[in-house]
Amino acid sequence: MKITSFEQYEQAYKQSVEQPEQFWADVADNFTWKKKWDNVLQWNFKDPDVKWFSGAKLNITENCLDRHLEKNADTPAIIWEPNDPTEDFRILTYKQLHDKVCQFANVLKNNGAKKGDRICIYMPMVPELAIAVLACARIGAIHSVVFGGFSAQSIADRIKDADCNIVITSDGAYRGNKDIQMKNVIDDALVQCPSVKRTIVLTRSRTAVSMIKGRDVWWEDEIKKVETQGNPECPAEEMDAEDMLFILYTSGSTGKPKGVVHTCGGYMVYAGYTFANVFQYNPGEVYFCTADIGWITGHSYIVYGPLSQGATTLMFEGVPTYPDAGRLWDIVAKHNVNILYTAPTAIRSLMGFGLDYVKDKDLSTLKKLGSVGEPINEEAWHWLDDHIGHNKCPIVDTWWQTETGGIMITPIAGVTPTKPGYATLPLPGIQPVLVDENGKEIEGNGVNGNLCIKFPWPGILRTTYGDHERCRTTYFATYDNLYFTGDGCLRDDDGYYRITGRVDDVLNVSGHRIGTAEVENAINMHSSVVESAVVGYPHDIKGQGVYAYVVIPDMHDSPDLTRKDIIMTVSRIIGPIAKPDKIQFVSGLPKTRSGKIMRRILRKIAEGDTSNLGDTSTLLDPAVVEEIKQGALK
Ligand code: PRX
Repeated sequence: MKITSFEQYEQAYKQSVEQPEQFWADVADNFTWKKKWDNVLQWNFKDPDVKWFSGAKLNITENCLDRHLEKNADTPAIIWEPNDPTEDFRILTYKQLHDKVCQFANVLKNNGAKKGDRICIYMPMVPELAIAVLACARIGAIHSVVFGGFSAQSIADRIKDADCNIVITSDGAYRGNKDIQMKNVIDDALVQCPSVKRTIVLTRSRTAVSMIKGRDVWWEDEIKKVETQGNPECPAEEMDAEDMLFILYTSGSTGKPKGVVHTCGGYMVYAGYTFANVFQYNPGEVYFCTADIGWITGHSYIVYGPLSQGATTLMFEGVPTYPDAGRLWDIVAKHNVNILYTAPTAIRSLMGFGLDYVKDKDLSTLKKLGSVGEPINEEAWHWLDDHIGHNKCPIVDTWWQTETGGIMITPIAGVTPTKPGYATLPLPGIQPVLVDENGKEIEGNGVNGNLCIKFPWPGILRTTYGDHERCRTTYFATYDNLYFTGDGCLRDDDGYYRITGRVDDVLNVSGHRIGTAEVENAINMHSSVVESAVVGYPHDIKGQGVYAYVVIPDMHDSPDLTRKDIIMTVSRIIGPIAKPDKIQFVSGLPKTRSGKIMRRILRKIAEGDTSNLGDTSTLLDPAVVEEIKQGALK
């Protein structure tokens, strides 16, 4: 399954296009199946209907845990580094992790969980989060992990959409110098969620929480019950390859976030295959991904990908700037990290603190570096290369999405020649095409277009939970027979791919996907707001910042106070991650005669480029543009 030279890459790529079923069957043979498949692939992108390995039976946790026990029971599976560097770190070997997953799977069963149930997980980055995720998979329950930065309202929306019956959370969480009240947030969410019959609460910060009789139980008490029952094993539920494994919500250009659905067989194969290849993982190496398990990167490249390959994965509870901006490098030195997978926004933020935080750190164990989540600017790429990798570590700039399940376009570490800012070449099995607005394929090199994929891969999303039509219209209806990514892309003269950013109304703020419509809806909830329009603008650290144009005809307080109120409203409706960076009050928005907001103009003004706003003659009220230009925020 592992490609170790560029010649092998080229051969594998060719085979994957000419004989895709054979190619993927060979990859899938590296995993443990309770029963092999009847068909490798059945598909059409019209409905869409994609099935990988149908007829096969498996449980992903047998691949992530049980199969490593014979030879690698004592290999560290998870190294956990706490938020506070003076607190003890933890190591869980494969045997220990297996036992804890079985134990918690039995807790879930004792609390009424069954195969097919949807379970919401809202937890800090502690090993118990990975244990909870795997325990769901063990019994065939579908997990829906919600990132800790989302509000009660966002959690409630997700719980209701998936009709979850159990929530797993913790009393509180530590992140940097913040103490976050997680259970309180869940309590607020659950006011709206009668479907939830049980909340299991882990003790982390032992902050005071309300515990409702009949609904809320402590994780630790439930573990004790399982121990006294004397039944440490939990057999892995037999799952069909196409049974749902998890739902993960992500933002699009319209409406509320949608629940991207991944299934057991294909997702497992794709997460494992990409992890082994992209990072060229070798046994004994320590791999550290700085993402949160609340995002797809954490699902695929902290939990499922590394564990399916028997790797040692490091989980970090805190943030890169606590207690100071040298924290990531301290972790690398403390745990002898060999592979570091992080995000451009983290790199740019650490660059800003200067080299003092890097210069005395022992980074000699590092062998490979990775980047994900947004385009990496050349300056950040070179900083990583020079000061962290000391020009000896290949950097893999990995392009992919929640919907793709795993990495799609990327260098293979040490195999693919890299170029700063370029995700380089598609992995074997991935067939990217660039198309123009009419869906016509743009062939050849030195071209720009909208990035689509023309053939399925095992990690492709199967549906959006509860709304298959939305999946079809969002991804498969823009262009016939193509999966549309929403990204713009350049293919240079060497055939290398460079992702240029979203071409739809989706923002990428610090690597987090945020829909402009979602933020607008939240701003419009503020009692004085009549209307708003949100666009992105270039931000030195976040990549993109959130710029909001807001119409308030009758402002009761000072503009400053009103801005704070709007920010608070957005925090409460979506979560702190969606807070606008800039709010400009305007008397009206530039609209066409049919009432459509001209976002192109607003984007240009937010970017500070007011010289050429293009044709404004079709606007209902061209004067408003002048006013907005004059009041633009720097
Ligand atoms: O615009 C692309 C950007 O992030 C989007 C996907 O976001 P999400 O589903 O949250 O997943 C993020 C982690 C995989 C993409 O549509 N993106 C992701 N990786 C890159 C990137 N843009 C440029 N270069 C990348 N390496």
